Amino acid sequence: MTILKGRLLQECLSKLYYSSKNTESNRYPKKIFSGIQPTGAIHLGNYLGAISQWVKLQDQGEDVMISIADLHSMTLPHDPRQLSRNIQEIAATLLSCGINPEKTILFQQSKVPVHTQLSWCLGCICTMPRLAHLPQYKEKSKDLKDIPLGLFVYPVLQAADILAYKGTHVPVGEDQIQQIQLTQDLARMFNKRFGETFPIPHALVTGTEFAKLRSLRDPAKKMSKSDTDSKSRICLTDNITDIQRNIKKAVTDFTSEVTYEPDKRPGISNLINIHSFVANKSVDEICREAKNINTGEYKLIVSNALAEFLKPIQDKITHYLSDTVLLADVLEQGREKANDIATKNWNEVQCKLGLNMDVKLANRIKNI
Ligand code: AMP
Ligand code: TRP
Repeated sequence: MTILKGRLLQECLSKLYYSSKNTESNRYPKKIFSGIQPTGAIHLGNYLGAISQWVKLQDQGEDVMISIADLHSMTLPHDPRQLSRNIQEIAATLLSCGINPEKTILFQQSKVPVHTQLSWCLGCICTMPRLAHLPQYKEKSKDLKDIPLGLFVYPVLQAADILAYKGTHVPVGEDQIQQIQLTQDLARMFNKRFGETFPIPHALVTGTEFAKLRSLRDPAKKMSKSDTDSKSRICLTDNITDIQRNIKKAVTDFTSEVTYEPDKRPGISNLINIHSFVANKSVDEICREAKNINTGEYKLIVSNALAEFLKPIQDKITHYLSDTVLLADVLEQGREKANDIATKNWNEVQCKLGLNMDVKLANRIKNI
């Protein structure tokens, strides 16, 4: 995918917090695993923080698995018809962003039963205070009167997602780091109690501002699917009118110059980051070119660059959505491959946990 081969992306990915010399993972083959919730349209934060990493790793020949985490999308009340549409849309979008099912195993989480089976087993070694500390739980539950159990335990399911395949590296945005730490803790606890079984997976986070792309309405927050204000994000499917409106309304400050100062001027700096990615230009180059214009004029340039970048992706999304048979086929092939790997690992887990009957013992008893 030519749009992903940019110099800036190379730069950003070369800063991944990842060392291949990691001794803990050396005894396990390198396996990249990540997931995305089919909760709403994919936005630029998902793309810059996660998906572009997945495509890059896939194209480097790594062993990559990507799960459409549909069970995670049920932790808050959901509309079944919408969820079903979202699964299709997310599959179409991932393919359009460059996920190649010939190279990457792309599948739906709920179609592989081992995720929930292993989640139960990990839940039995996880403590409630450990889960209550996780920031995403605190944030999502703070305005709820009745908190669904699923919202509380979903990080255990996420750990099961990764460990079901003995994932060693997990490319994600910054917001997922604590969840990956929980996965590490659970893998260590399991290994200690039941014998060496799982690798200790490591988060792969881009060492750049793309690891936490900011909301357009409040640069102190991350761009998020769940933000009720749709003007806070740019979705990959947004048309030019949406893009221009959202970028125009993006919160900046009272200074009219275009300068890159992420700490002092997070709003305009966020736009410069987005622009630098989509136009494949350095921040310096952008600021030089924007020297004689104000932020209002600059926002129009960013909008046009974004629309141009998104157009080929959008054309592909339209194409894939018109061929739902193909989408179903891709996911079915992914399911088969994922299921084979997970079932093999689950058999090992069952032995370790004592869930399998001791056949030799049973035969001895029979012969008495
Ligand atoms: P989600 O939308 O929560 O399913 O996230 C899917 C992936 O996108 C995860 O790896 C997230 O960490 C990543 N992600 C979500 N929002 C952002 C953001 N604003 N900046 C960077 N990465 C993000
Ligand atoms: N919880 C992740 C999110 O909200 C999505 C996800 C589900 C995931 N399972 C995963 C990410 C396994 C990495 C690995 O974005």
